[in-house]
Amino acid sequence: MRTLYILTFLWILVSQNLQTSMCIDTLKPNQNFTDGFTLISSNQRFEFGFFTPGNGSYGSRYLGIWYHNLPLTVVWVANRNNPVRDLNGKVVLLENGVLILYNHSLATIWSTNNLPIKTTFNPVLQLSNSGNLVIRDDGRNNTIFWESFDYPTDTVLPDLKLGWKLDVGLQRLIRSWKSIEDPSDGEYSFSLDPPEAPQLVLRSGSRKLFRWGPFDGTSFSGSNILNVNPLFRSTYVSNSLELYYQYEMLDESVFSRLVVSSLGFLQYFTWRVNISKEWNLLVSFNTDPCDSYGKCGYYGICYSLSSCKCLSGFTPTSPLDWGLFSYSGGCKRKHELECGHGDGFVKYDGLKFPDNPTVWSNYTDHECGTKCLENCSCMAYANVNVYRNGSLCVVWIGDLIDMKNFPNGGEKIYIRMSRSELQSIADAKRKRVTVKVVSIVTVLGSLLLFSGAVWYLSWVTRVKRKDRISMNSKGQRSGSFQYVEDNQDEGFQLPIYDLDTILLACNNFSERNKIGQGGFGSVYKGQFSNGQEIAVKRLLEKSIQGVEELKNELILIAKLQHRNLVKLLGCCIEGEETMLVYEYLPNKSLNNFIYGTLYSPCLILHFSIPYFLCSFK
Ligand SMILES: *[C@@H]1O[C@H](CO)[C@@H](O)[C@H](O)[C@H]1NC(C)=O
Ligand SMILES: *[C@@H]1O[C@H](CO)[C@@H](O)[C@H](O)[C@H]1NC(C)=O
Ligand SMILES: *[C@@H]1O[C@H](CO)[C@@H](O)[C@H](O)[C@H]1NC(C)=O
Ligand SMILES: *[C@@H]1O[C@H](CO)[C@@H](O)[C@H](O)[C@H]1NC(C)=O
Ligand SMILES: *[C@@H]1O[C@H](CO)[C@@H](O)[C@H](O)[C@H]1NC(C)=O
Ligand SMILES: *[C@@H]1O[C@H](CO)[C@@H](O)[C@H](O)[C@H]1NC(C)=O
Ligand SMILES: *[C@@H]1O[C@H](CO)[C@@H](O)[C@H](O)[C@H]1NC(C)=O
Ligand SMILES: *[C@@H]1O[C@H](CO)[C@@H](O)[C@H](O)[C@H]1NC(C)=O
Repeated sequence: MRTLYILTFLWILVSQNLQTSMCIDTLKPNQNFTDGFTLISSNQRFEFGFFTPGNGSYGSRYLGIWYHNLPLTVVWVANRNNPVRDLNGKVVLLENGVLILYNHSLATIWSTNNLPIKTTFNPVLQLSNSGNLVIRDDGRNNTIFWESFDYPTDTVLPDLKLGWKLDVGLQRLIRSWKSIEDPSDGEYSFSLDPPEAPQLVLRSGSRKLFRWGPFDGTSFSGSNILNVNPLFRSTYVSNSLELYYQYEMLDESVFSRLVVSSLGFLQYFTWRVNISKEWNLLVSFNTDPCDSYGKCGYYGICYSLSSCKCLSGFTPTSPLDWGLFSYSGGCKRKHELECGHGDGFVKYDGLKFPDNPTVWSNYTDHECGTKCLENCSCMAYANVNVYRNGSLCVVWIGDLIDMKNFPNGGEKIYIRMSRSELQSIADAKRKRVTVKVVSIVTVLGSLLLFSGAVWYLSWVTRVKRKDRISMNSKGQRSGSFQYVEDNQDEGFQLPIYDLDTILLACNNFSERNKIGQGGFGSVYKGQFSNGQEIAVKRLLEKSIQGVEELKNELILIAKLQHRNLVKLLGCCIEGEETMLVYEYLPNKSLNNFIYGTLYSPCLILHFSIPYFLCSFK
């Protein structure tokens, strides 16, 4: 009899154990379970049930998901702000598909927010192999009515979609625990927002601490989070229904989780199955001081070692503070914007995009700069592949903040500058370039190069520039030609005129408008609708060896622009046509320079840095 008792007792023990370890991963309608029982995913990785965080007492029981057979590592909490006060919590799946957590007196502590299903269906609660708790129709189509991955706590697991379900306006973001013993809403959150120009942002309350973005076609600006990695593959998906960041593990034997900690760190942990004894902190993303939001203030750029520099054209607002390594006051313009009186753009390369991008999806790449110029609050623009389906016009309204230097990779952005700033940059460049050109000439002694340089330099010396002409000729520019010198972080931009504008201005290139002809093509006089007179050098197709060559010519001319010299207003490259548009100077000498006659090298002596040439001679 005694043996029977013992056997029965053992059997009960074993069956109790079986109940909890038999991999029950589902709960059927009207089934319920109490504290002590758990669901375990069929791959034995995750467990769903009641737990007490940290060393807390049983006075605070939470319903959640953790790794099965690992030191308690919670990845999701249902009732994070409303614990059950004793061990009598009860989980019930109702027939209508709603999951409810009751306390002992059957008060609802927490429930899923899916709408009760009216039609006949067969709901089932299942803890999936990815750690996602789902309520689905157990029928043929497995429709999911609710899933815990839609309501993450502080952890992004592989396959969880951080971001937006646009059709229902649901945002999935993670929020830290208050402390390691208290899973209630903490102060730090990490999210993908806003949907218009998605960035990944870490916040403390509503204050931004750290930011990656916006997405630029391959990664979030300033991050390498989507880079190829042997461990996991990241994806960013954007379509009319969804917008999310997600990662999947490439190695099944590694567990991983991205967590926003209660101290505000964004941390990525891994655990190698059967090998690890503790979680390995692979990376804590926001530890670079340069990632500290707005560290260098407005128009400041953060360099490694957390030093700040102003964008060129800007100067520290408070040099004293900057001297004391307090950079947050940022930088101010050396020359104020005139807005509408010929502001232009300077191109920067290798930056993390500033914060607060706005997408102007109704404009093409070419219109972007022009439209930005027309809006006085528009401080920068870029053509960005935000949605992975082609580049879009992205602009920054208001002052630019939170930029970081990325010597390898990083973004191209065009920043608004006043006309006088553009001029002084051009002047500085002219000096540098002349030195460069001349020293190349000196070293190589190449006659060919020399005559080329002479050509370029000579035309500019011949003609005095007329009064300043406003660049603000609305509607005439359809885009811009831009360049960046290698190893430079700034550049010019030369307007591109569309063919129709030029044809209109020059009476369809009528003979009456022709003012000269040469081996390269013809020169026409014309007038824009705003009254500005122009001279158009229309290049013969055969005289252009290639786009590269033309670009070089444009670059050189642009670099050489000076207020006392004739001005290249822009160019037009459309189909077979290639044209350079200069401002028109009534005096005859214009013809000479436009014809590109070679002048004697002596003329160069009049140029600003004749010294090297003289020594060459
Ligand atoms: C839980 O299940 C038991 C047995 O299946 C049942 O008697 C009880 O009413 C259920 N409790 C709730 C709250 O549904
Ligand atoms: C729990 O208590 C142990 C020993 O008292 C301590 O070492 C550990 O850090 C505590 N854990 C937490 C999360 O407080
Ligand atoms: C259950 O929750 C309700 C509402 O929060 C509370 O008034 C009641 O005391 C709780 N019962 C138990 C047994 O904890
Ligand atoms: C799946 O089944 C539900 C309930 O029967 C139904 O409402 C839904 O339209 C079905 N979905 C698909 C994709 O067939
Ligand atoms: C790209 O996708 C976005 C959102 O899905 C859409 O608004 C935009 O018009 C698309 N752009 C192009 C060029 O197809
Ligand atoms: C871990 O060890 C268990 C038991 O030895 C084994 O069944 C399992 O395949 C191992 N898992 C991996 C990923 O090596
Ligand atoms: C294009 O979009 C911008 C910003 O949304 C708006 O200000 C502008 O009026 C729009 N332009 C046109 C032509 O629709
Ligand atoms: C500039 O563009 C922004 C964003 O589209 C808009 O809110 C603002 O009203 C515009 N300002 C002007 C002067 O057009």
